[in-house]
Amino acid sequence: MTMNRYEKIWIGFSVVMVVTFLALIAYFAFVTGFQVPHKAEVIDPRAVGQDERFSSPRVVEVVPGKKYEVYLVARMWNFNPREIEVPEGAEVKFIITSPDVVHGFEVVGTNVNGMVLPGYVTVITTRFNKAGEFLMVCNEYCGSPHYTMSGKLTVRGR
Ligand code: CUA
Repeated sequence: MTMNRYEKIWIGFSVVMVVTFLALIAYFAFVTGFQVPHKAEVIDPRAVGQDERFSSPRVVEVVPGKKYEVYLVARMWNFNPREIEVPEGAEVKFIITSPDVVHGFEVVGTNVNGMVLPGYVTVITTRFNKAGEFLMVCNEYCGSPHYTMSGKLTVRGR
């Protein structure tokens, strides 16, 4: 059986494309820590204040210097807590919800960027490997003072 030259070229091209796509998926999943949206915990947005995690938003030191949990409420038009401090290199899990409308949670210059929807709990796990001060912003339009919705994340050096 002989194959047309063009057929061979196109088969080769298809194989290269599939391999490239798989390599890109692997790169984003394992190197950049990209997390796809998955089944999220649901929460009654009207009862956010009764949930112990969100009635007193805070940074919890699970394992000192190693593991942290941040309970965060995104609402019109601020983040609570507004200032967060975690050490460099520690595993940080942000647990976020909104009692009102859709907000965004982005830590500028890092790979933290998620949507915060009322009725759901957004969980983002990361590590900050560079000490410094980072801007936290809402990147979903949530009303005219949306541009004022920001905060500060400080990564303490070791
Ligand atoms: Cu919250 Cu924009």
